[in-house]
Amino acid sequence: MDFSIKPIEAKTGLTGIKTGCIAVGVFEDKKLSAGAKALDGKGAITAALKSGDITGKAGSTLLLRGLDGVAAERVLLVGLGNEESVSEKNFLSAAQAVARVFSNLGTNEGSVALPFEEIKNRDAAWAIRGAVIAIRDANYRFDQTKSKKEAEKGGVKKVTFLTSAGAASAAKTAAAQATAVANGMALTKDLGNLPPNICTPTYLAGVAKKLAKDYKFGIEVLDRKQIEALKMGSFLSVTKGSEEPPKFIVIKYNGGKPKDAPIVLVGKGITFDTGGISIKPSANMDEMKYDMCGAASVLGTFRALGELGLKLNVVGVIPTCENMPSGRASKPGDVVTSMSGQTIEILNTDAEGRLILCDALTYAERFKPAAVVDIATLTGACVTALGHHNTGLFTRHDDAHDALANELLAAGKETGDTAWRMPIEDAYQEQLKSNFADMANIGGPPGGSITAACFLERYTKKYTWAHLDIAGTAWKSGAAKGATGRPVPLLTTFLINRANGKNAA
Ligand code: BES
Ligand code: MN
Ligand code: ZN
Repeated sequence: MDFSIKPIEAKTGLTGIKTGCIAVGVFEDKKLSAGAKALDGKGAITAALKSGDITGKAGSTLLLRGLDGVAAERVLLVGLGNEESVSEKNFLSAAQAVARVFSNLGTNEGSVALPFEEIKNRDAAWAIRGAVIAIRDANYRFDQTKSKKEAEKGGVKKVTFLTSAGAASAAKTAAAQATAVANGMALTKDLGNLPPNICTPTYLAGVAKKLAKDYKFGIEVLDRKQIEALKMGSFLSVTKGSEEPPKFIVIKYNGGKPKDAPIVLVGKGITFDTGGISIKPSANMDEMKYDMCGAASVLGTFRALGELGLKLNVVGVIPTCENMPSGRASKPGDVVTSMSGQTIEILNTDAEGRLILCDALTYAERFKPAAVVDIATLTGACVTALGHHNTGLFTRHDDAHDALANELLAAGKETGDTAWRMPIEDAYQEQLKSNFADMANIGGPPGGSITAACFLERYTKKYTWAHLDIAGTAWKSGAAKGATGRPVPLLTTFLINRANGKNAA
């Protein structure tokens, strides 16, 4: 997929654009967008709207061929809804519709002349980013594990966005940024979708090493012995039942000054979660291959960083292992000592994510971070609370943390990869009380995503920290089963904004 920007020339306008297909917008009240007006000539588009062949509802489409006086072979009419100041949602529906039609056309070149500059509260750069991501999403395929690869699909491979001359330069930057995000999302999806017998901790470490080689990142992969030397007793308790060796991956992007405090991203990398001795029911257990999507989103974000050249420092920290039952596995009632020295009574071996993350969060202290964000498919309770629309966002509640939370919320809104803030309060902390250790690893059913966050919070006192529970947003179940690539757009946009100095801190 190749994206480019072309300013519309005053002389030839849209009619002179030679391409396989040009997409323009129309509205529900049968009104034409400026792009559609430019191509209407003797009234072919007006007639199509009048005939009722296209309603103009956001995302509706009609393909016309051979319009008089139009150099493009085809004109794709795309509905934008009923307001000429187009809503974000309607624009994205239109972009998705363009993506759908383009991917099945008998031409490999297409142009898009939607009203990028007429979107309510958003600029052309936002619109171009949304369109690039929608088109890349529609074209994503996973066939690595099928014996017959899907035949290389036809459809548009080269997309040109037509903008005003004034918007072209910002649009170019936006297209490059969105391409980087889409490449990161594709890596995150691939890793999530790979089966757990292929995507093991060793495999994830290999992907991290390859990224480091391709983009000159710093990389360190610690093995069991080194993890033991660090006294990560909590992480080690989770890997105990597994034959697959655990890995602790540290990857570094140094785009800032050496002295700049880094952002640390910590990703949960359980490559398969059986629940351990507190074993899960077998229905849909295959989906627990996605329990490494936090780790995959960190690697995907690094893939994007490799192309973006941002001026800041970022460290990725990934504890990765399997959670398996066996004669050597941890048992309910076991007490373990975390790297922080705090002891934990494991009351449920299926609450393993927090057990690997707490040691990674302690490890993160050594970077003297500007902020730490962990990303984890942590709790089914978060899916119950927020469904599949919003990622759960948890931080402490003071000025520094409110600022970080607001940055993350804004980055999510900007990219449609949204999060919703949840509380962390002492009242919930009490649910983690243990008679035999400093804390239990579960807090009972009420507020399960919150008590999980409260557990992590106890390991993050030395820096500003946020937790993203992506259990509901990292993958889809059912017929469209597959990883979504979230929250790579949120994380990357957060980093882009930080690098641009838009941080509230
Ligand atoms: N990986 C799961 C969380 C999960 C469950 C994500 C379902 C997506 C869908 C996590 O390790 C887990 O098993 N959590 C338990 C915690 C409980 C034992 C306190 C859960 O959510 O049931
Ligand atoms: Mn679990
Ligand atoms: Zn898990």
